[in-house]
Amino acid sequence: MDPQGNASTGLGITRSERHGGTYNLLMEGDLGDEAIRPTPVPNLSLIASDSDLAGAEIELVPVAKREFRLKTAMTDLPEFAAFRVILLDCPPGLGLLTLNALVASDGVIVPLQCEFYALEGISSLMHTIEAVRRRFNARLRLCGILLTMFDRRNSLSGLVEKDARDHFGDWVFDTTIPRNIRISEAPSHGIPVILYDPKSIGASSYTALGAEIVKKEKIAIQEQVRADD
Ligand SMILES: Nc1ncnc2c1ncn2[C@@H]1O[C@H](COP(=O)(O)OP(=O)(O)OP(=O)(O)O)[C@@H](O)[C@H]1O
Ligand SMILES: [Mg+2]
Repeated sequence: MDPQGNASTGLGITRSERHGGTYNLLMEGDLGDEAIRPTPVPNLSLIASDSDLAGAEIELVPVAKREFRLKTAMTDLPEFAAFRVILLDCPPGLGLLTLNALVASDGVIVPLQCEFYALEGISSLMHTIEAVRRRFNARLRLCGILLTMFDRRNSLSGLVEKDARDHFGDWVFDTTIPRNIRISEAPSHGIPVILYDPKSIGASSYTALGAEIVKKEKIAIQEQVRADD
């Protein structure tokens, strides 16, 4: 859902290959031919964002039920039923693209860079999530806050971590992602760090995060099923 398309680049899908992706999904409620693409990662497919998506933010303004475009398309199209987990990468701002993603989601993962002081931003994002829950999507919940770009040599990292854990307690994932050169190199090779350098600290941190999320999500899904009953 990010017009910059970094998730697509990082999974080896070049700009010229990005037609019929999330723009079509949002604006036409449909997918182009072969829009769901295989990636270098087993069992992971991708719908690319294309640069047209930048215009969608404005094109959506006069559209009826504009907050629900993505949710409706994902519910109606049979292609989506084949996937157990769908991750939506969001742009940095809180416009209609992000709002569509929040309305279509069950949970949000919030990455927090430990390089500068961003706690206020997180508090305002929590309020937004609460507002979206009340107005548009009662299922939406916070999966967790992820501390990333953590640098042990930088005292600010430690301060941000302490503050985040004091403020948000169990919402903060136990796993933190360190600043790691291998993570920054991987996207230019079109593969994620766990394939680029599986032994790196970046790869092992993301693997640990995956395990933590799966564990937390199992509990959250059980709670959701009970609430639905
Ligand atoms: N832990 C890390 N260590 C080193 N480099 C990292 C780390 N995490 C991300 N990067 C690098 O920083 C850049 C931005 O990361 P990423 O795309 O995940 O951030 P973003 O907030 O989604 O940015 P954008 O708004 O551009 O999409 C990428 O080049 C990525 O490889
Ligand atoms: Mg991004």
